Amino acid sequence: MKILVIVAHPNIESSVWNKAWVNELKRHDEITIHELYKEYPDENIDVNREQQLVLAHDRIIFQYPLYWYSAPPLLKKWFEDVLLYNWAYGPEGTKTKGKEIGVAFSYGAPKDAYQPTGSNRFTLEEILVPVRALANYISALYLPHFAYNTLDLTRLVQSSKEYVRHITTVKPVV
Ligand SMILES: Cc1cc2nc3c(=O)[nH]c(=O)nc-3n(C[C@H](O)[C@H](O)[C@H](O)COP(=O)(O)O)c2cc1C
Repeated sequence: MKILVIVAHPNIESSVWNKAWVNELKRHDEITIHELYKEYPDENIDVNREQQLVLAHDRIIFQYPLYWYSAPPLLKKWFEDVLLYNWAYGPEGTKTKGKEIGVAFSYGAPKDAYQPTGSNRFTLEEILVPVRALANYISALYLPHFAYNTLDLTRLVQSSKEYVRHITTVKPVV
């Protein structure tokens, strides 16, 4: 199983959680790490290069800090630029068929805010519906998400270990 982690953090130098997770990933040679904001500081994505990366891996994890219930904008641009008609979808768009896709993100609100009765009103599953819909549209298999809230720093090391275990062992949602 070849795993690609596409990281989208606009300011990884001042990150705590995503930086720790990337550092943990670096200890695992079998995982390819691809940091979008480092690769494309001008946000000009090399589409062919990205498509080759996707083709070369079985499982693609999108890692980011949750910003406004979504990912930072370069990841949205990546979706738009890379997942093209007749490549990822459309009559001849079969390149992402059967790829496994998942997300891993850190978020700042307390965990219980993400409940129907909590201050954010919607669950994490609900705010991830667009990613799940995207996976479906490009005939990929959606993986259960990995998420950690950032309030308890004592869980940072543990979360990094859990993260690697998650992305190497998780099974697609049926
Ligand atoms: C612009 C911006 C938007 C944010 N939006 C959310 C949000 O919608 N929900 C949430 O729980 N946290 C939100 N946060 C908190 C971040 O998710 C949190 O700071 C981040 O996950 C920390 O990760 P890092 O240490 O890798 O930077 C936001 C932070 C910023 C700067």
